[in-house]
Amino acid sequence: MRPDLRGVPTSAPAEEALMDFETALESLYANRGEPLNLIRPALKQWPEWSLPHVFRAIVLLGFTERRFARGAAGSLERAEPLLAHATDRERGLYTAARHMLEGNWTEACETFEQLLIEYPLDMLALHTAQNLDFFRGQPVVLRNRVSRVLPAWTPTTPGYGFVLGMQAFGLEESNQYPEAESVARAALELHPENPWAVHALAHVMEMQGRVSEGIEHLESGASLWAPDSGFAYHNWWHLALFYLDRGDDAAVLDLYDRELGAPEARFALNMLDAAALLWRLNLLGIDVGDRAEPVAAWWREQIAEGSAYYAFNDFHAAVSFALTGDVPSLAALLEQLEQAPADSGRGAISREVGLPLVRAMVDYATGNHAGCAKALARQRDAAQAFGGSHAQRDLITLTLTDAAARGGNPALARHYLNERRIMKPASPLADRLEERIALLAA
Ligand SMILES: [Fe+2]
Repeated sequence: MRPDLRGVPTSAPAEEALMDFETALESLYANRGEPLNLIRPALKQWPEWSLPHVFRAIVLLGFTERRFARGAAGSLERAEPLLAHATDRERGLYTAARHMLEGNWTEACETFEQLLIEYPLDMLALHTAQNLDFFRGQPVVLRNRVSRVLPAWTPTTPGYGFVLGMQAFGLEESNQYPEAESVARAALELHPENPWAVHALAHVMEMQGRVSEGIEHLESGASLWAPDSGFAYHNWWHLALFYLDRGDDAAVLDLYDRELGAPEARFALNMLDAAALLWRLNLLGIDVGDRAEPVAAWWREQIAEGSAYYAFNDFHAAVSFALTGDVPSLAALLEQLEQAPADSGRGAISREVGLPLVRAMVDYATGNHAGCAKALARQRDAAQAFGGSHAQRDLITLTLTDAAARGGNPALARHYLNERRIMKPASPLADRLEERIALLAA
């Protein structure tokens, strides 16, 4: 048994193997570099060690895309015969990864939690469970899971500042904005480059409608958080939301063209943000030109592979199809969602949340705006179950408002606008939405 940097037991065959693994793990939790590339030396040099195989599977499954499931399954198959030499903790990580592969995110989280009871410093278990809490729409767990292990961490524990970043995001998604801000700032004191802590603070400002502060926060730190970070895309997206809230449409489009429109690699995690931003612009009557088609085309390719895998992605695929008027792709997506497996994990999220929301987008795209508004009003407060952040799911409310106005029910649109005025009194977007409602309903 060879303890890792935090004293958590591993069966690493050599100290060098452990260091290679730690490099990849740090890349994962710090959102810096490419964990899949960085785990390769350990896989190549010590193929008899199960943990790097399990790590690779967990990283691949974190993309929430069907196309990576086969690679993850292969890694777990390679890990399985090696488990006899693994520690109990490593076997637990394998079991949790298996649950992830099978779409049983709740069981995966339970397994990670069992590990965290015994090994509260297990960074891989903690990081992955937080991702899963986010994907399955459990904001309070997002906060509490970190709280349960935090007493075991000290400022000298490797990765401590990044755990504070996780705590900050959990607090923010639990609507504890002052506490979230304080913890995010503490995390950024330790690691000003940490994109996850930057993100948590951006969310606080987004939820409170602190538009100018949000822009300053993201722009002033971009030279630190953006380089070599796969998470930078999402932070640029947040900056675009602040510009949009301020009414600076040209800055939104410019930022889209610079940072969001042509990423080096396209993943659901960033293409859903691209679709969402273009849809938000469209809902405000801003012409997005030919920007929507490549986004919809990417989502079409995923549908061709059978996409009903994670409902949050599928909804954004539907948004991109509504944006481009691609009703056949909406129909194909709907058909796949109707056949979602009858499990209690990812399949249940597809059936219970994805299906009605995609149906509502079909209504929107086919001109049944009143039907769309009615369906979205019914689903909106339950949609948390398909994950994403409050800020991301605001897309549902914005679509509902637009559809209600177009469908001849401006009172319904204003009903939901009232919420925004109370929750984000400083946000200029509400007045703009009011004008838009009046225009659409006229
Ligand atoms: Fe976010």
